[in-house]
Amino acid sequence: MSYIDIAKKRCAQLQCSEHVTILSIETSCDETAAAIVRDGRVVLSNSVYTQIPLHRKFGGVVPELASRNHVDQIAIVVEQALEDANLCYADIDAIAVTYGPGLVGALLVGVSFAKALALALNIQLIGTHHLMGHIAANYLTYPDLEPPFCCLIASGGHSDIVEVKDYVTFERLGGTRDDAAGEAFDKVARILGLPYPGGPELEKLAKQGDPKAIKFHSSFNESDGYDMSFSGIKTAVINHVHNHPQVSKADVAASFQYSVNTILSDKAVHAAKHTLALAGGVSANRNLRDMLQRKCDKKGLRFCCPDFLYCTDNASMIGSAGYYLLKAGRISDLNLNAVPYLEL
Ligand code: KG4
Ligand code: ZN
Repeated sequence: MSYIDIAKKRCAQLQCSEHVTILSIETSCDETAAAIVRDGRVVLSNSVYTQIPLHRKFGGVVPELASRNHVDQIAIVVEQALEDANLCYADIDAIAVTYGPGLVGALLVGVSFAKALALALNIQLIGTHHLMGHIAANYLTYPDLEPPFCCLIASGGHSDIVEVKDYVTFERLGGTRDDAAGEAFDKVARILGLPYPGGPELEKLAKQGDPKAIKFHSSFNESDGYDMSFSGIKTAVINHVHNHPQVSKADVAASFQYSVNTILSDKAVHAAKHTLALAGGVSANRNLRDMLQRKCDKKGLRFCCPDFLYCTDNASMIGSAGYYLLKAGRISDLNLNAVPYLEL
């Protein structure tokens, strides 16, 4: 029997089995993460090694350093996930791994490790989309949440409004035409002299400022569609700081955050019919969560956002998405490769 035939048989067995325990791996950027997730919803362990201190002195992620650090950490993080769940390799039914989008060298570490493990343990491999994982972070937080629903994804690399039609089918309604929301947060934070990663630091500083102090405007976002633009706002901030060297940095941070979050929330609430979920690293921003909650309440929509633990990159979300891919028969073989610009 070929590997493919064995895989299909194994997948069919897992699709029928009552419980499925997945070991998941995420190495798409600067977090080396592994988790054990049961039945797509129950997290048995969530192990994350963050490389932030390593990249901080460079003001951003250095891809080559990220890849090398993943190589150093991956086995330790996977062993930790097993130990925390009180399980051994023999208890694992399948391995889900992020294969894109992300930094190619970083992705390759996770994909190669997962492939080797799947071969050695003779268990199923499931290549998983990073953004599908971010969306699935909501399933870990809301046991009753099921598609269809609308999702706003706001991360360091993506800002999209998508219709989640079922667990593995998505329709992109719109999104950023230039910078991702998280990218804009990081770039503006840098202008303000804040350390990497800028988003959480900018949020902290914004708490001391007045969100209405400066109007950072971008006419592109006034249209009725779901597309957005953040680079004009970023440029407006750069110009303002340049022309007003004495300006309060806290006011700039608060006004910028208010402007970006207003665009994100207005567009997403407009797109949602009954339920709106938030996903991606920027979902950790309390100001955005509060703004969306208020606007959803006003429109009579249910609003969901992941537990803070599952907002930024982690492997539990990959374990959840991987489970639903498995249930849909969307499994991988050992030809799985890293795809840096993978579409949802
Ligand atoms: O999803 P994520 O961990 O990695 C990617 O897939 O890109 O998102 C990271 C992004 C970074 O741009 C980071 O600055 C932003 O999420 N972020 C935040 C906050 N926490 C993380 N942005 C605004 N406020 C936050 N609290
Ligand atoms: Zn991410």
